[in-house]
Amino acid sequence: MPKYFELPLIYASIPQGQIYGKKMLTELDVLLGSCSFEIEQCNNVKKLEDVRTAIFGKNGKLTAKIKALKNASEDDKKLIGAKINEVKKVISDQLSTKLAELEMHELETKLKEEYVDVTLPVEVKSSGFVHPITKVFAEIANILSGYGFEFAEGPDIESEHFNFDVLNMPSHHPARTMHDTFYLNVLADDFGRKLLRTHTSPVENRVMIKKKPPLRMFTMGRVFRSDYDATHTPMFNQVEMLVVDKDIGFAQLKWLIADVLKKFFEVNELSVRFRPSFFPFTEPSAEADINYSIVNGKMKFGVGNKWLEIGGCGVSHPNVLKDGGVDPNEYQGIAFGLGIERLASLKYGVPDLRGYFESDERWREAFGFSPEDL
Ligand code: DAH
Repeated sequence: MPKYFELPLIYASIPQGQIYGKKMLTELDVLLGSCSFEIEQCNNVKKLEDVRTAIFGKNGKLTAKIKALKNASEDDKKLIGAKINEVKKVISDQLSTKLAELEMHELETKLKEEYVDVTLPVEVKSSGFVHPITKVFAEIANILSGYGFEFAEGPDIESEHFNFDVLNMPSHHPARTMHDTFYLNVLADDFGRKLLRTHTSPVENRVMIKKKPPLRMFTMGRVFRSDYDATHTPMFNQVEMLVVDKDIGFAQLKWLIADVLKKFFEVNELSVRFRPSFFPFTEPSAEADINYSIVNGKMKFGVGNKWLEIGGCGVSHPNVLKDGGVDPNEYQGIAFGLGIERLASLKYGVPDLRGYFESDERWREAFGFSPEDL
């Protein structure tokens, strides 16, 4: 028997003589085999789509078989048509199974590639430096808001009224000359000339006239004085604190200063010494000193018996309270003012005051902080 008749069993039922039909059936089986193989070989969705087009597209392999059907006899048409449908169904099933498999695989790969472990620490990629003044601002604001102090602000360009008059320094007061003031050649809306504020104390009055006691406020910002050498710059920064309440005085002030500075210098013990001083807006007035010693060439605060001046303070003068709309017979005020550059230099070992304002990149690299440290 010629090899020709060794067809799979499926053809056993085909009547003899229908050679065209048999050939087509065989070809369809071969096509099914090769398509299955191509589908199986696909390793991505795009390739699978190409294979689908190569089978079912306008010029596809199976489409060609469907077109060729018109040459078949009526009997063949039935037989081959059924076979084509069968092949079509098998290929379509294989295509959709493979598509689901590939899509799942691609999704898994994508998830693996894009996996982010949210529990890992943040990768720091920031550049630039935080200026030590900004850093100290943030530290002080943090400490003071812990006691319930509210932050307040006043303008850099002040009037004689706020900078002096309401701080018990009327125009004839000799203390005005101590301030080396930059005056502007412009009259202020309230009283006197405009000027660059020489201290942050004017903000005390600005808050008192707006808020009823008891109050706790602090402010920080630029102040200006006509002075320039290694320990003085024409612009520097101050922090000012004021508490207005009943039954308060020097004792509470001393405790407050010590407690704030303990937190600032991060020490458990710190002694504060008051030396008598004079400020027109406080009575009595004092310079506050803190104790320190030199350990391995470095200043260590809270130990030893050396003293370092840290700022001015006192109990608010009755005139200051009156000008703020507060009855001095009912309330007292306690206040203190510190230089921020001085605090920063002491804490972080910055040697020369002028470096703070020279915008030298190397200085900022040496004494600046990473933004994440804020
Ligand atoms: N304003 C003062 C100055 O710049 C510092 C000062 C002293 C502030 C005593 C105060 C204070 O609040 O009570 O020299």
